[in-house]
Amino acid sequence: MKTHRVALIPGDGIGRDVVDAAWSVLQALAARSGFALSGTEFPWSCAFYKETGRMMPEDGIETLRAFDAILLGAVGWPAEVPDSVSLHGLLLPIRKAFVQYANIRPHRLLPGVQGPLKAEGFDILCIRENTEGEYSGAGGRVHQGLDNEVAVETSIFTRKGVERIIRFGFEQARSRRGKLASVTKSNAQKYSMVFWDEITKQLAAEYPDVAVTSYHVDALAARMVMAPDSLDVIVASNLFGDILTDLGAAIQGGLGFAASANINPDRSAPSMFEPVHGSAPDIAGKGIANPMAAIWSGAMMLDHLGEKDAAARVMAAVSAVTAKGIGTVPGKDSTDAITAAVIAALTTE
Ligand code: NAD
Ligand code: IPM
Ligand code: MN
Repeated sequence: MKTHRVALIPGDGIGRDVVDAAWSVLQALAARSGFALSGTEFPWSCAFYKETGRMMPEDGIETLRAFDAILLGAVGWPAEVPDSVSLHGLLLPIRKAFVQYANIRPHRLLPGVQGPLKAEGFDILCIRENTEGEYSGAGGRVHQGLDNEVAVETSIFTRKGVERIIRFGFEQARSRRGKLASVTKSNAQKYSMVFWDEITKQLAAEYPDVAVTSYHVDALAARMVMAPDSLDVIVASNLFGDILTDLGAAIQGGLGFAASANINPDRSAPSMFEPVHGSAPDIAGKGIANPMAAIWSGAMMLDHLGEKDAAARVMAAVSAVTAKGIGTVPGKDSTDAITAAVIAALTTE
C-alpha cells in the first residue's frame, strides 16, 4: 500500500484546531481507501520561538524536504512575537525555499453557505505568485526614529518568475472555462506592472483558446463583488493575490471556508497546503474555529499526491455537511462537531 509522508505544522492559535480536524478527516478517509498517510508533527510556532529564539530549527527546511507534502495551520501570535519575525522565520521561507511559486486559492460557495452577495453561481480560481514581487524582503530603513527617516521596500519581479506564474494561470484557465484575468496596477506602477502586462500579452499568443483580460487590481476587486460570476481564473502578484483572496474568502462566506495550496509545479520539492486564514487570536482556544478551509486544503493535498478519488470524496463529504446547514454559520457549531459530521459523511456519501 502506498504511504504518503506528510509534515504537520499546526503553528499558532486556531492552527492547532484546524490541522487536527483536517488530519482526522484525512486519516478516516485513508482507512477506507487504498493508501496510507503517515504524519510527523513539528511544533514550530511562536511558542517554539519563545523557547528557542527561532521559529524553526536551522535545518528545518532540510528536514521538511524529505516529506511528500506539508499541511500547515497558521503562523503568527502578534501579542508575543512580531509578525515580521514569525512569518519571515517560518511560513515565507518554506514557500520560497521549496519554489512553491503557485499559490492556488479556490473561491466558490459550498452548498448551504450564505455569502454576502446576491450572486451565488461564481467559481473563481485565484492563482497568486508566491515567491517574489512585493514579498521579496528587499529594502531597509535609515535614520530610524528621526524626522528624516526613510523606509524602502523593493518589489522584485523577474522574467522567469512572472512568466511561470502567468503561464500557470493560462494552463489553469485552459483546463477550466477558458477565461483568464491578469491583474496589475500598471496605470500607477510603470515598471513591474507594465512588465507583467507585456508578458501576459506575449504568452497570450501561445494560448489562443484562452480569453485573457488585463485588469487593474482596484477594478478587479470591485468586479469580484459586483460580478463574481464573470470571472474564472485570476492571476496576480504576491501582495495583490493576498488581498484579493481574503476578498474571495469573504464572498464565499468567510475565512473559515477559504483553502489554499502552495504548489511547486515542477515537483522538485514538497508543496504545502494551508487555509488562507491566520491564527485568529480573537477566537483561539474557544473550539469554534471553522475547520472547512483546512479540510478543503487537505483535499487539495490529496489531489496533488495523486489521490484524486479520495480528494473528491472529501469534498463530497464537506458539501453534504454544509448542505445540511452544519458549519455554515460562524460560531454556531464547534470545530469538533463539524469535523465529526464530515467524518460521518465520508462513510455515507
Ligand atoms: P486571521 O485570518 O487570523 O483572522 C481574521 C478574522 O477571521 C478573525 O476575526 C478570525 O476570528 C476570523 N477567522 C479566521 N479563520 C477563521 C476560522 N477558521 N473560523 C472562524 N473564523 C475565522 O487574520 P489576522 O487576525 O489578521 O491574523 C492573525 C495572525 O495570523 C497574525 O499573526 C497574522 O500575521 C497571522 N496570519 C497567518 C496566516 C498564515 O499562517 N497563512 C494567514 C493570515 C494571517
Ligand atoms: C496568507 C497570509 C500570509 C501572506 C501572511 C501571514 C504573511 O496572509 O497566506 O494569505 O500574506 O502570504
Ligand atoms: Mn493573506
